[in-house]
Amino acid sequence: MRKDVRILLVGEPKVGKTSLIMSLVSEEFPKVVPYRAEEITIPADVTPERVPTHIVDYSEAEQTDEQLFQEISKANVICIVYAVNNKTSIEKVTSHWIPLITENTDKDSRVPLILVGNKSDLVEHSSMETILPIMNQHSEIETCVECSAKNLKNISELFYYAQKAVLHPTGPLYCPEKKD
Ligand code: GTP
Ligand code: MG
Repeated sequence: MRKDVRILLVGEPKVGKTSLIMSLVSEEFPKVVPYRAEEITIPADVTPERVPTHIVDYSEAEQTDEQLFQEISKANVICIVYAVNNKTSIEKVTSHWIPLITENTDKDSRVPLILVGNKSDLVEHSSMETILPIMNQHSEIETCVECSAKNLKNISELFYYAQKAVLHPTGPLYCPEKKD
């Protein structure tokens, strides 16, 4: 049995990483947030899978690239957060974040990724049309979820999916890249 789960949130500035963490913890949308939330540990007995869970925030404003790389290599699952109303933040998922994560994780230990589309309260249309092709191209993406830190929509689900991705991974049965 795994003894704990370490969840890291990354993504472009201002997509709402810190707000998501604070909304989960306080069950209300924080009007003001620091750049980076303190690492929090959720005790086993209040998590759906009964495993202590650490949630780690990232902020470009407060951390160096070196610190980011270290956190990436320590994470058991990484949530790449974008804002559904911000196209650039979606483009950066494939142009920046996925390659950066691949470079900083051990090739043999598959680190599951979760795509998180925050600020769903601001749009009428879902970003899924844009996200599905990305999911199809990257087998390491376990799932995707649209949520809103502001409306508290899908917040606990997001952290549950992350926990589940580590504890019950649905790895591909056949992975063409791994064929020798
Ligand atoms: P950095 O720490 O700079 O990387 O940003 P961040 O990704 O942590 O974003 P942060 O949580 O600081 O939120 C940025 C802005 O978006 C703030 O003004 C938040 O109030 C706002 N925001 C965050 N989540 C939501 C959301 O779900 N809906 C709306 N409408 N605004 C949000
Ligand atoms: Mg932040």
